[in-house]
Amino acid sequence: MDTKLQLAEALAPLCGMDAAAVQEWFEVPKKADMGDLAFPCFRLAKAMRKAPPAIAAELKEQLVLPAGFSKVEAVGGYLNFFVDTASQATAVLDKVRSMGDAYGSSELGKGKTVCVEYSSINIAKPFGFHHLPTTAIGNALYRIYKFLGYRTIGINHLGDWGTQFGKMITAYKKWGTKPIDDYTIRELVALYVRFHEEAEKDSTLNDEARAWFHKIETGDPEALELWSKMKDGTIREVKVTYQRMGVDFDSWAGESFYEDKMPAIIQELRDKGISKLDHGAEIVDLSEWNMPPCIIVKSDGSTIYATRDLAAACYRKEEYDFSKLLYVVAYQQDLHFKQFFKVLELMGRDWVKDCVHVNFGMVSMEDASFSTRSGNILYLDDILQAAVDKTYAIICEKSPDLEDKQSAAEAVGVGAILWSVLYNNRIKDVSFTWDKILNFDGETAPYVQYTHARCCSVLRKAEEFDFSSADASLLDDPYSAALLKTLEAFPESVLSAADKYEPYVVSRAVVAIASAFNKFYYEQRIMADDPKVKAARLALTDATRQVLKNGLNLLGIVAPERM
Ligand code: ARG
Repeated sequence: MDTKLQLAEALAPLCGMDAAAVQEWFEVPKKADMGDLAFPCFRLAKAMRKAPPAIAAELKEQLVLPAGFSKVEAVGGYLNFFVDTASQATAVLDKVRSMGDAYGSSELGKGKTVCVEYSSINIAKPFGFHHLPTTAIGNALYRIYKFLGYRTIGINHLGDWGTQFGKMITAYKKWGTKPIDDYTIRELVALYVRFHEEAEKDSTLNDEARAWFHKIETGDPEALELWSKMKDGTIREVKVTYQRMGVDFDSWAGESFYEDKMPAIIQELRDKGISKLDHGAEIVDLSEWNMPPCIIVKSDGSTIYATRDLAAACYRKEEYDFSKLLYVVAYQQDLHFKQFFKVLELMGRDWVKDCVHVNFGMVSMEDASFSTRSGNILYLDDILQAAVDKTYAIICEKSPDLEDKQSAAEAVGVGAILWSVLYNNRIKDVSFTWDKILNFDGETAPYVQYTHARCCSVLRKAEEFDFSSADASLLDDPYSAALLKTLEAFPESVLSAADKYEPYVVSRAVVAIASAFNKFYYEQRIMADDPKVKAARLALTDATRQVLKNGLNLLGIVAPERM
């Protein structure tokens, strides 16, 4: 809020502080009749050698109130400022209109790069419901940082390496019935399951699998081709799901990408005396930090997950020179991240302070037809489809005349699923029910989307009416004022979401806007008789539409115009 900065600048010289410090001291008064902004004078008492109430009174006398404020009062040790609602309304509406789709964005990140690693699924394994949080939260953070002017690199750190691919090839060679490219993920998973069943009875299968993985590692053409076709097939299939969710990546460099980058890391760890031999394995002892050792090379000579992560972090620093590298990965891997961050620190990579493990809790489903069937994995695609089908039924009931019900159902069904992991603190476990996430009146994506569509519908009805030069000072009722406040707060929510790596701050901001709009909508006639009032209310409706759309977009959620 620019007026806040102007006020800070006006106050700063009077208190011998700089404007940034003054801004930090600002508070929001507890009661609305105490004004919109307060400046506490208590901490000035020592330097100014006066009692806080006297300081407040003196500052009040000296201060030239900047535009945007209607009055200032000295109460106790506080200065209370009252915003000039008319000029505030005009400023907010002007800003939203002039910035449009960019309202809430900034150039804060100009010249800086943020790498966001998210989703990171495993090849030839189910793209499961448990991948929802990383995919949705990572995508939202990616969009938020981009909006704030950062160069953003979205990375899908594919699990595309390891002994399981030897098993897959063994199974395929034994029981495969068609070209490997034609296998769907589910069919590949079935092959994998069969491998394990048969290997229980016949352990030579495991030897074969090891031999095949060795062939992949040593570049045998047949093994490499089968492996890479399996990988291509999986990527082709998951891209369809990603597209449904509005998710995209700049890099698909998976674990295999770092195969040739690990030897240098292993060597450096030896040379610097950071790693040591332990029962034939190479490990980094982390007991000093109360952590189990980080294994770098296993006793059979193979590298592991952590080694690849070390190589990946170093590669990314070199390739992208990030100012931040975010890993959106479940909290089950907290220890893994602590360990390999510590190893990077021991290697003298001081940029490890810019690496952040953005962890999150578990997601589960309270629906008998989906959950708890033992050992069953929930495919994300099935959940998305179920949500879309259920939404379709709701829309048929609510809006029987809607023309394109299918695309509205797609947007709302998928939006509801994404929202389920974007509305709370990341670390909270979420368990969702269909009733909860598809509730059009709750704090849900469908509710926000519905409010957005409501704005669009109001504006369609007023299509002929020109409100471009509306007089915002006519928005002087409490419902308009409350709504304007939520619109004004939006840019700060975007900043705060980035700062905390918490997309929920944006979700909450859009819910606050939607609910303020709905109160306004029910309490005030937008199509007022007085054309001037009508113009002002339509302008406010249009601004609401715009900010809801921007907010949903940051969350990767589509904002349909009709539903
Ligand atoms: N593919 C891994 C899994 O599904 C997640 C990878 C997380 N990222 C990382 N850099 N370790 O568990």
